[in-house]
Amino acid sequence: MPPRHLTFPDGFMWGTATSAYQVEGAWNEDGKGESIWDRFAHTPGRIMDGSTGDVACDHYHRWREDVALMKELGLKAYRFSISWPRVLPAGRGRVNRKGLDFYSLLVDGLLEAGIEPFATLYHWDLPQSLQDKGGWAERSTAEAFADYADAVSRNLGDRVKHWITHNEPWSTAVLGHRLGMHAPGLSDFLTALKVSHHLLLSHGWAVPALRRNSPGAEVGITLILFPLVPGPSNTTVFPVFRRLDGSFNRWFLDPLYGRRYPADIISEYTEVARLPAHTFDFIKPGDFEAIAAHTDFLGVNYYSPVILRSEVTPENENEPMTLLYHGPEYEYTDIGMMVYPDGLRHLLNRLYFEYHPGKIYITENGASYSDGPDGKGRVQDRRRVSYLRNHLAAAHRALECGVPLAGYFVWSLIDNFEWSFGYTQRFGIIWVDYQNQKRIPKDSALWYQQVIAENGFALPARSR
Ligand code: FCB
Repeated sequence: MPPRHLTFPDGFMWGTATSAYQVEGAWNEDGKGESIWDRFAHTPGRIMDGSTGDVACDHYHRWREDVALMKELGLKAYRFSISWPRVLPAGRGRVNRKGLDFYSLLVDGLLEAGIEPFATLYHWDLPQSLQDKGGWAERSTAEAFADYADAVSRNLGDRVKHWITHNEPWSTAVLGHRLGMHAPGLSDFLTALKVSHHLLLSHGWAVPALRRNSPGAEVGITLILFPLVPGPSNTTVFPVFRRLDGSFNRWFLDPLYGRRYPADIISEYTEVARLPAHTFDFIKPGDFEAIAAHTDFLGVNYYSPVILRSEVTPENENEPMTLLYHGPEYEYTDIGMMVYPDGLRHLLNRLYFEYHPGKIYITENGASYSDGPDGKGRVQDRRRVSYLRNHLAAAHRALECGVPLAGYFVWSLIDNFEWSFGYTQRFGIIWVDYQNQKRIPKDSALWYQQVIAENGFALPARSR
């Protein structure tokens, strides 16, 4: 069988993604305020290799070089995030002109290079001064976010035409406030619930400001979503399956698409977590209408599925992490995430048929592999090439089913600070030497360059 060429729609947004704290560095320069990630990474014991994002990839100073690399690769789009405390050092009030100027220059540089900017307003670096007042557990932080969205879009809204309010509210709520693995490092179930609500609410309040200041722009939110896949023997797990899908996925999707919080999960939380009925008093009249503000697209971050073990016992059934199946028949990336491209196809089909977003962008997908330069300075990251190719092929199958997929952003443009893993994980298609900040496009970058040039790629017969 000859290889089949998978062609993507005209105007498909071929991109890469990064986030402010992970690449910028310059943590205390030009009037930037402290963020919760500055505080968290500066706290001994929080980051695996004891590192911080103080310098990271020094993108704050080297963005011109990075944009030139993107241009060389032929990227059509770049997803970056704006650091809230760089723009509003205290979270509210005084705007730091120099902070805004940085993003304004970056946006101009991207547009000049023919690259469409996709700006994310919140990729986890809350101003520390807002955390000191209770952070996302407080409704006032959602109000502050709407003001921040207004300030940024008043300045960039003439040129940025793709806005993402939040990156992965699940991660902020659960990793940051329930499991304590991310900033601000809290471990409290009720706090995490409140946080998830205020994040969604702040999204809803920001949408009208973005529309007002950025006429004709597309506005959306990015969720991390986990397709649930039955394990080797799936007979006992259906209720668990449904519950996990509820807390990971439906808790965020349902209210965004006008369905409020899923009733089964509300009762699960009140009964199983023994929360008193007034727990949900943080939901006020009008909140659901605000959260369901019309959006133009859904941003999807996909890394791996949740595959359940077959043995579910009363002891482990409320401990999501112990329910995950790990098996030798699956491949894992260096960070331990399962490689499961078909999950992306299932997820996209499900999202389209259940929620019907106008458009979907895959705003993150990628893999951590540590391959570094060989003797000749070339980085042969074959596993990443195959990861990307197989996920793009899965996404293409969803396109063939009618899913309005409009773009794909590789995580990440460059190796960077991987949160609590520090610099131990490399997700970039461009290698970064942290000693001298030298960048080397890996083989995956060169492969991606060709995919973009052809608006697709040939799928070898054996991988169909
Ligand atoms: C996502 C985050 C991103 C990066 C990747 C590996 O959950 O949004 O910043 O850490 O995981």
